[in-house]
Amino acid sequence: MLPVSSYRPSRETLAVAAALLREGWPVAFPTETVYGLGGDALNPVAVRAIFRAKGRPPNNPLIVHIAEPGQLQELARKIPQVTHKLIDWFWPGPLTLVLKRSPKVPSEVTGRLDTVAVRMPAHAVALALIQEAGTPLAAPSANLSGRPSPTTAAHVLRDLNTRIPLILDGGPTSIGVESTVLDVTSSTPVLLRPGGTTVEQLREVVGRVALSPKAAMLTRSPGTRHRHYQPRVEVVLVLPRAELTGVVEQYWSRGLRVGLICSETARLPRRPDVKVHVLPESISGFAKGLFAAIRALEESGVDMIVVQGVEERGLGLAVMDRLRRAASLVVDEHGQAVVTA
Ligand code: TXA
Ligand code: MG
Repeated sequence: MLPVSSYRPSRETLAVAAALLREGWPVAFPTETVYGLGGDALNPVAVRAIFRAKGRPPNNPLIVHIAEPGQLQELARKIPQVTHKLIDWFWPGPLTLVLKRSPKVPSEVTGRLDTVAVRMPAHAVALALIQEAGTPLAAPSANLSGRPSPTTAAHVLRDLNTRIPLILDGGPTSIGVESTVLDVTSSTPVLLRPGGTTVEQLREVVGRVALSPKAAMLTRSPGTRHRHYQPRVEVVLVLPRAELTGVVEQYWSRGLRVGLICSETARLPRRPDVKVHVLPESISGFAKGLFAAIRALEESGVDMIVVQGVEERGLGLAVMDRLRRAASLVVDEHGQAVVTA
């Protein structure tokens, strides 16, 4: 069993974690979005160890985490004016900025792109760890490649036990979906991945934000080329205005053990053997609980998971992005199913 520290790691625990990082080991730590698997971003050996621990394809670049905006100078060059405005408004927080890469950043971090993704997380433990390590931390989500992002230390333990030396436990993460990835290398910022900072919030501050068309998304943010994760069981996404109970009935009547994820207000099917995971109606509550709900249902032994979708605005854009990637079938309001995988 790995040593999992209490919710607020002590100074001693932080010092141990920082020492491991300086020696090139990967360490899992909490952020406000999901848990990250950090390694010294300026040490190629440490960065390769992250990819190894996760089983991540090497062409999928990592986000570099910093503890103060000033650290951006050594990581990026040709920093456009709009960056400063975004930093003033959204850092620390769930916004990752893609900028031209400085030669100091090892190519292992950036998947050999000429850009680097950087963010300053809004989490006391993450910030303290980066400071104590004395180096920016490259950190993907701390799940095995292909699994949902971890929102508790227990999720990290489940995926990476025996693969990494330490997990810092900061309790459940507060946002529950990953950061927004925004490319600021062109004159109009381009959204590469919807996340914890909403497009509406970004537009209020910088005006125009282009939504990356799917094709461009595939080439510009290589991570989106891979399915976000392959759930162990099939996921069927039911769009918000579609009839949920009928879909559940359909699978239940075939003798399948169905898991259902829906919000408090959904009309629930009257089948005692359908495992229901109810999430708060607020989109922030839904986002926060979603990955944990998927993991819990998978482990409960269901054959498949039906998820009720949410409106695609605000945080709902990120939630639906992750659900569409996970789903092999999307049922629309006409009851029509579209196969996606
Ligand atoms: O909230 C988060 O962003 C979490 C926490 C730990 O900070 N991290 C996270 O990392 O979700 P990861 O590796 O699971 O996702 C990083 C995303 C991928 O889609 C990747 O392709 C994209 O960021 N990315 C990284 N560097 C990039 C670059 N230079 N250009 C375009 N996209 C990049
Ligand atoms: Mg990830």
